[in-house]
Amino acid sequence: MKTVKKNGITIRPEEQKDRRAVEELARDSFFNVYRPGCLEHYVLHVMRDSFDFVKELDFVMEKGGELIGQNVFVKAKIRADSGKDIPIVTMGPICIRNDLKRKGYGKMLLDYSLERAKEMGFGAVCFEGNIAFYGKSGFDYASKFGIRYHGLPEGADSSFFLCKELIPGYLKDVTGEYKTPDIYFVDEKEAEEFDKTFPPKQKLKLPGQLFG
Ligand SMILES: CC(C)(COP(=O)(O)OP(=O)(O)OC[C@H]1O[C@@H](n2cnc3c(N)ncnc32)[C@H](O)[C@@H]1OP(=O)(O)O)[C@@H](O)C(=O)NCCC(=O)NCCS
Repeated sequence: MKTVKKNGITIRPEEQKDRRAVEELARDSFFNVYRPGCLEHYVLHVMRDSFDFVKELDFVMEKGGELIGQNVFVKAKIRADSGKDIPIVTMGPICIRNDLKRKGYGKMLLDYSLERAKEMGFGAVCFEGNIAFYGKSGFDYASKFGIRYHGLPEGADSSFFLCKELIPGYLKDVTGEYKTPDIYFVDEKEAEEFDKTFPPKQKLKLPGQLFG
């Protein structure tokens, strides 16, 4: 898989030796954002060796040789109402180092990795995210594609559930349901134990968190 170098920024495949630093980065970036503390560093820790993890789409971003971002993809499917399973990918965790957020690096990493996913032949990407960020890279509400989120009651707000076709028309005649791959649902007790192997950090309950 190729590496891109532009204006002092490198995006390259994650290597085994990067793993702990990437987990530290994800922990710092996600900590207290969606819940007190976070689980994403543990999700990364367990997912990389899982069957559906897309090794070719496991990226780190560096600036001046320092790690500043990461993104990963996992194979997933839409269970179509026709009874067929439609292969897609899901994405994340994706993050950018705290002091460099909102400077365009996230979008650069996202757009680069979506291009690579497209080159690999994946037809669509679905996941949970904020349209304010992902909309700029061509994502729309999954409901507009006729894709429902597993377990969400009809009529409930599904604006967190986003989709982008990588192959135009890939979901044209598809309606169905998407279920987040099991690998994302880590055991919170295990995550807690894993978190103790990192420097102590204060968990905070903050307004705007989704869980907690
Ligand atoms: C989300 C994240 C990856 C975005 O990367 P970033 O480098 O900060 O974002 P960018 O600067 O590339 O953003 C591009 C545009 O997307 C929008 N955007 C980005 N983050 C946003 C946010 N948190 N809320 C609203 N809009 C946002 C903005 O319009 C932004 O342009 P602007 O800053 O000129 O207004 C990064 O902020 C991050 O690591 N957050 C914590 C972890 C996380 O939430 N990951 C995503 C989980 S789904």
